[in-house]
Amino acid sequence: MSRSDDRPSAFDATPFLPRDGGLEAYRRAAAGCHGCPLYENATQTVFGKGEVSARVVLVGEQPGDQEDRAGEPFVGPAGRLLDKALAEAGVDRDTAYVTNAVKHFKFTVAARGKRRIHKAPGLREISACRPWLRAELDLVRPEVVVVLGATAGKALLGGSFRVTKDRGTLLPMPGTDEEQYVVATVHPSAILRADDREAAYAGLVSDLKVVARALNGNA
Ligand code: URA
Ligand code: SF4
Repeated sequence: MSRSDDRPSAFDATPFLPRDGGLEAYRRAAAGCHGCPLYENATQTVFGKGEVSARVVLVGEQPGDQEDRAGEPFVGPAGRLLDKALAEAGVDRDTAYVTNAVKHFKFTVAARGKRRIHKAPGLREISACRPWLRAELDLVRPEVVVVLGATAGKALLGGSFRVTKDRGTLLPMPGTDEEQYVVATVHPSAILRADDREAAYAGLVSDLKVVARALNGNA
């Protein structure tokens, strides 16, 4: 890698995007993305999963340890919690497309042992990877985009986004003429770490009920 490639401005997935094609073409192209250095240590690109006809797109942060190995988003503990909350809120899991703001797993390795410890992606990686997320949203054109936590919020709503301030309400999607809404909520992993898990989980379900109502109202 030349020195100039190390500059922050050089981090960008755009050159790796196909010129056209559907979700499958994008998924294949994303497998070869070197838009930022995260591909170097991760196992594989974890692209979104779901039907192009999905009515709702859920956006997480980045793949976790299990997702990195499986190559699919939300297959680990956070995903199981999310599935449960979606069912409880009345959002049909089959009409949902799930993805992440960043498509490669960022981690550090514990000083002793081999355990890979999640590390939050930075703004450079979030913006480098955003073209993939934008492409997914352009192809799926969901009615509602669910922002799961701060990273997805920064990716789609900008740096001033705060989960605590913006959660649980139907917001118009910025930068689109289409009738598309955003609902922000906490990240399911934050619930697994919360002191009061029950209250945190109830908050997630309550926010997802806003999504369910929006979808039912539009049916
Ligand atoms: N957390 C995320 O944000 N995404 C996943 O796919 C798994 C855990
Ligand atoms: Fe490309 Fe995103 Fe992976 Fe970086 S994290 S290499 S931009 S797919």
